[in-house]
Amino acid sequence: MTFQVREEVADDLLSRGYSRRQMLRTAMMFSGAATALAMNPEIALAQDDGAARNMIRIGLNECWVGPMAPGAAAAAAAIAQSNRYAPNDDVKKLIKTIAMVEKVPEDHVSTWPGSNECLARAVASFCSPTRGLVQADPTYDTPNRAAKFAGIPVAAVPLTADYRHDVKAMLAANPNAGLYYIVNPNNPTGTMTPMSEIEWLVDNKPAGSVVVIDEAYIHFSKGYPNNTASHLAAAGKEVLVMRTFSKVFGMAGMRLGYFMGRPEYGKKLGMYDQGALSSQLPIPSVVCGTASLTATDLINARRKELTENRAMTVDYLTKRGLKVIGPSEGNMIMVDWKTKSAKEMGDIYRAQGIQIAGPRWPSWPTVGRVSIGTKAEMEAFCNATGKILA
Ligand SMILES: Cc1ncc(COP(=O)(O)O)c(C=O)c1O
Repeated sequence: MTFQVREEVADDLLSRGYSRRQMLRTAMMFSGAATALAMNPEIALAQDDGAARNMIRIGLNECWVGPMAPGAAAAAAAIAQSNRYAPNDDVKKLIKTIAMVEKVPEDHVSTWPGSNECLARAVASFCSPTRGLVQADPTYDTPNRAAKFAGIPVAAVPLTADYRHDVKAMLAANPNAGLYYIVNPNNPTGTMTPMSEIEWLVDNKPAGSVVVIDEAYIHFSKGYPNNTASHLAAAGKEVLVMRTFSKVFGMAGMRLGYFMGRPEYGKKLGMYDQGALSSQLPIPSVVCGTASLTATDLINARRKELTENRAMTVDYLTKRGLKVIGPSEGNMIMVDWKTKSAKEMGDIYRAQGIQIAGPRWPSWPTVGRVSIGTKAEMEAFCNATGKILA
């Protein structure tokens, strides 16, 4: 069987310095679910982990509960109308709602089944063998995986001593990169990079490159909603602001996300499939997302619950002499186990029926990530920790 690459895709990649082999690998990356899944470290890990089904699952930064009630009700109603491809112009309504909540023009919103696929596509679209990727270390791994797969150089710049993205060092690491990747709050540390520093990078980066600001966890942060990067997208800067419904909205399995940025960026990332993935979204997910976006009281209730459960867990761990990286403003914390590796600790918790993140951050071998679950789950985690330390 031969693998056909659309002429527009081949022309774009070859004209930006991809070799024929790199062009084929890049096009392949967006041609099948198997490869796309492998790019998402959280999903890739969830696939292997059938045994975790009966455990306390605080390993994948999922939300501790499912969709919000108005979203779930809207999704149930949409299922009844699922004989129709597009019963009520629902994707348009989602885009309108995002534009209203985020204060960006509607044509600056691009919808996707989660943000992971667009992270990989953004790397292919803005980077090349001569214009690399710059990211923090440690950070979320999808752009790095996509870049390595396509043969694009990656510079990984350590976080500052207080765990911000070191934007000046990131620019110095490659002053001609195609994409600078900022995760705010960062995964896995949950720590924030101030908006003034992100704006500095946007103002000083080379022309033609983009700054991707991945705000998967922004709803959990202290300053939300006044600390988002939406205004940079609204102003037409060279940014992509990524959002997902997989976190505070509890919709990871429903696959929905979006990015905000110049209208041409939506077209650029959609080139690989002529916009199919971006427009053919499951309607129950779409209406669930739309109804959830404006459920401000419910969003705030989840923020409060998360903050309390995280504070309780951090307090427990620090009182027992463990170092917790932070302050985390996400639904995760990183713990330095000091005398044991993240792998060993993962196995020890697993034996206690608790799934924490696997060893994924090689630069920090003794540091593990724990997602924040319900109060009962975090109490169980703390009890298990007490036993383990004893
Ligand atoms: C920082 C960050 N970005 C993006 C994603 C991808 O989320 P999804 O593809 O579910 O939207 C994740 C998932 O954990 C993440 O941590």
